[in-house]
Amino acid sequence: MNISHLLDTRLTAAMRALGLPETAAAQVKPAANPDFGDYQANGVMSAAKQLKINPRELAQQILAQADLSDIAAKAEVAGPGFINIFISPEWMASQILAIAGPNSPLIQTADPAQTVVVDYSGPNLAKEMHVGHLRSTIIGDAVANILGYQGHRIIRQNHVGDWGTQFGMLIAQLEQLQTRDPSDDAAPKLADLEAFYRQAKQNFDADPDFAALAREYVVRLQSGDAQCLTLWQQFIDISLRHCEDVYHRLGVKLTRGDVKAESAYNADLPQVVADLRAQGLLTEDQGAQCAFLPELANKDGSITPIIVQKSDGGYLYATTDLAALRHRNAQLKAKRILYFVDARQGLHFQQMFALARKAGFVDADVELEHCAFGSMLGDDGKPFKTRTGGTVKLVDLLQEAEQRAFTLISEKNPDVPETERREMAHKIGIGAVKYSDLSKNRISDYVFNWDAMLNFEGNTAPYLQYAYVRISRILTAMAETETPPKFEQENNAENRAELAAELKHPVERALALTLLQFGEKLHTAGRDSAPHILCAYLYDLSGAFMRFYENCPILKEGVTENQRRPRLLLAQLTARTLKVGLGLLGIETLERM
Ligand code: ARG
Repeated sequence: MNISHLLDTRLTAAMRALGLPETAAAQVKPAANPDFGDYQANGVMSAAKQLKINPRELAQQILAQADLSDIAAKAEVAGPGFINIFISPEWMASQILAIAGPNSPLIQTADPAQTVVVDYSGPNLAKEMHVGHLRSTIIGDAVANILGYQGHRIIRQNHVGDWGTQFGMLIAQLEQLQTRDPSDDAAPKLADLEAFYRQAKQNFDADPDFAALAREYVVRLQSGDAQCLTLWQQFIDISLRHCEDVYHRLGVKLTRGDVKAESAYNADLPQVVADLRAQGLLTEDQGAQCAFLPELANKDGSITPIIVQKSDGGYLYATTDLAALRHRNAQLKAKRILYFVDARQGLHFQQMFALARKAGFVDADVELEHCAFGSMLGDDGKPFKTRTGGTVKLVDLLQEAEQRAFTLISEKNPDVPETERREMAHKIGIGAVKYSDLSKNRISDYVFNWDAMLNFEGNTAPYLQYAYVRISRILTAMAETETPPKFEQENNAENRAELAAELKHPVERALALTLLQFGEKLHTAGRDSAPHILCAYLYDLSGAFMRFYENCPILKEGVTENQRRPRLLLAQLTARTLKVGLGLLGIETLERM
């Protein structure tokens, strides 16, 4: 249920019926202050101003026309022409009962459903994944989950970097090792990809013969030499396996099937350049093929060119991205394409999108969005590095997260068997790393801090996981009573009345309203590619539950059945919403902590 949308549709329709122009809209939002109701329409004043009529009178007319009596207990005009709406407990009760069954969908399916390509992670396969890949990988995955849950058709694309001059050096190194030790299995030699890369680079810098060989391999690779391709493929396979270990550990859904590597577009690159040239979009500049887009001129009037082919005939990152974009439009039929890539690539995407539109590589109705994010910083406010200033491997970071969580959990639960404590530590440690990232507005840089993210209080994963554990405990305890309650409640008049009576209690009402807002929060999070909106919601929901539970006991003696049933229903729905919400963020729940 998207209450904002429902009210907005009703009020805006009333505005139309009163003859207001197409541009007028009710602009309904959740009210910031509960004294002003649950929802507020802010659009009347500007409509009235345009028509030069009294806004308060117009608001009255709109209210009379719309008739919200089925939804609202009270709807009134306030201040200069706001409309304040107080949702009725009866309507809330019927909506809660509609989503409360264990198999009822918690939200309405998006209509129309869109085909959305989500481009994320995209590591360079020459090296192992490092912390620089964390944000793209987890933010992209969360947004893909959120949009998928709303019913959109999601196509994940892992645009891995598997092509370029570095690979000549790497396969020369692999060949050298295989000649020395002719066992067929390349895996042990590449167990530590970082060390392998370092060795290759050392040889390349120190040994002219090796460097010459590496260069020759680049050329042979590009011309499709079978031996080189086999070595390259071996290398890529193992490097991808390293990525998959990381994805698995992170609970990220990317699979081999989602990989559409840079090299997959190789055959199309000459055509991309030819098509751009045929449309007169290219200029030769010092032997390179460039596009100059006057609409993207810098402040001083100069234009930064987009180079699509180098003077030696080689293609670039932008050329491959243009080919990928064309593929996503024509073959994958995407209507929305999201790129989760570091903010520092802003110009690249701006140029690439503009050129692709100009060249007609994407249909006019396709949305292209660079979902940029800031950097992960250390406590010193500088980019996150190891103590000696090196890049932090992602596996090492995740290892440390689990180890820290294990120490914490072992202090709290010394009697739990170690295997179970390890499992708990995995869920808590990984959850903490992901949540501390996802809960920040992605555009900003943020400070990576172990103590903050592993705190059991505050807006953290452990806090939410613990809230879930507490609710589960109540539900389990109830299920074990002599007469276990019926969790499944029919949406009939009797149950509605019973629940509505309880919703007169302000904390219960607040919890119910928050539960009903899951759909609209997910909608906004998906629309803005902003998982932090879902995080903030889950944090609010946990808070609303805690306040409810302090004031409205469930298990205590003296609680009547008429109170217990609706309260249990709210508790159960809270647990389910938390689990689903955390699941969309790629964070697991636990049964105890
Ligand atoms: N491999 C690129 C990098 O490491 C990221 C790829 C992002 N996706 C894209 N379509 N350009 O910077």
